Amino acid sequence: MSLLGIDLGTSGVKALLIDEEGLAIASHMVEYPLLTPKPQWAEQEPEQWQAATLEALGALGRDRLANVKAIGLSGQMHGSVFLDSAGEVVRPALLWCDQRTAAECDWIAERVGWGALLAETLNPPLTGFTAGKVIWLRNHEPENFARVRHVLLPKDFIRYKLTGELATDVSDASGTCLFNVPNRDWSSAVLNALDLPLERFPKAYESPQPTGQIARSVSEATGLPVSTVVVAGAGDQAAGAIGTGIVESGTASCSIGTSGVAFAMLESPVPDPGYRTHVFCHAVPGAWHSMGVMLMAGGSLRWFRDVFYPGKSYAELAELAGQVPPGCDGLVFLPYLAGERAPHPDPHARGVFFGATLSHGAAHFARAVFEGIAFGLADLFDLLGTTGAAVSAVRATGGGAQSRFWMQMLADLLGRPIETLEQEEGPAFGAALLAGVGAGVWPSVEAACQATVRTKSRIEPSESLYGHARSLYTRLYPALKELFKP
Ligand code: XUL
Repeated sequence: MSLLGIDLGTSGVKALLIDEEGLAIASHMVEYPLLTPKPQWAEQEPEQWQAATLEALGALGRDRLANVKAIGLSGQMHGSVFLDSAGEVVRPALLWCDQRTAAECDWIAERVGWGALLAETLNPPLTGFTAGKVIWLRNHEPENFARVRHVLLPKDFIRYKLTGELATDVSDASGTCLFNVPNRDWSSAVLNALDLPLERFPKAYESPQPTGQIARSVSEATGLPVSTVVVAGAGDQAAGAIGTGIVESGTASCSIGTSGVAFAMLESPVPDPGYRTHVFCHAVPGAWHSMGVMLMAGGSLRWFRDVFYPGKSYAELAELAGQVPPGCDGLVFLPYLAGERAPHPDPHARGVFFGATLSHGAAHFARAVFEGIAFGLADLFDLLGTTGAAVSAVRATGGGAQSRFWMQMLADLLGRPIETLEQEEGPAFGAALLAGVGAGVWPSVEAACQATVRTKSRIEPSESLYGHARSLYTRLYPALKELFKP
């Protein structure tokens, strides 16, 4: 018996098979392109997702797939797949990183009213979110809009192709800005105000709930048994958090990939007073989560390495950075290389090295980059505190978690232990655990995590020597904000 997790990412789809101990049996990733036909546009062809998913399943092999008991889906959030009455794709999907909908988002806030919108959805209508995309289609491609009968999130298109069922889960639906996050269902108030019929949106299930079974044609093509259950699954951040064991209040994770995400479980849906973090339904039934996203965490380090030290490893950069003391003798780096989402939602913010003197050398610049990113992550954890998330220890995942030097810095800054994990399979692992819960392998999401999520190391905090540097960092953005404006 095995469980299959499928994560439909932005760069590719990953299919992961695990056993009942949570150990990986096999995995395969198939990439696809990101289409940017115009500035600020980001699209993908749902049919390419479908083909890539079938290719990834094919690579796992018919024999292995014949043993799969249940499938969990996870994927890039906030996208929009438009289907007509025959279930055909109307146009390419608009993705989470598409920025074309600024005017539509302003209109949505005005039309629904800020108060009602925030009370229902708990989040402002960001350009990446689904609501603006649907309104954009109505405004700019009315002939396409007239054909639309179903609006799906990316992973839910894969569900439709695997099972024939139209369904979503509450964590992914939370990122549409059309969902009543406290009530865990679509918001009729927001949909009515925007003149969007509820029947265009699929039923929302709790993440471990079964939503259908594998269609006969898919079974014949892949070897997956027709009895294979497909559970609702979760958006990639919530699924990643399940795979990290963030299923009790007090637990939080810090993921450092290209972006940096601070994620904490919430027992009640309390927004950050400034709405700078996202508060969404969690993949644990009856729970919510708060999440702060910085756009360029690992991405800033990669930029620094590629521009100044091509060919060097991240471990070599950390070794160089370790030659100078915490605080870099006054050199501070702001990691806003692609603008920022939280805590400063500002597309115009830019990267900065501040405070250079003749005595600063290469090691200072390297350390300043590690520190600036860690200060940004610490900002996100401060924001999580405003949603009532009492964080005791932080579990680190993603490429950044490999660096002991960086994790010690983060532990010192947060004043909390940092734990690293044995499994680094990402959201596909969390999706497979949700599948196991839906199929009865484990009685609850919490039990699934207890049985399978194993910590590798724990780094205790030492005294933080970053007081002055962090205070400079914190004061720099407000001082420069006006100058960043175009
Ligand atoms: C979450 C977010 C990304 C996307 C793509 O808010 O924007 O995690 O889901 O990975």
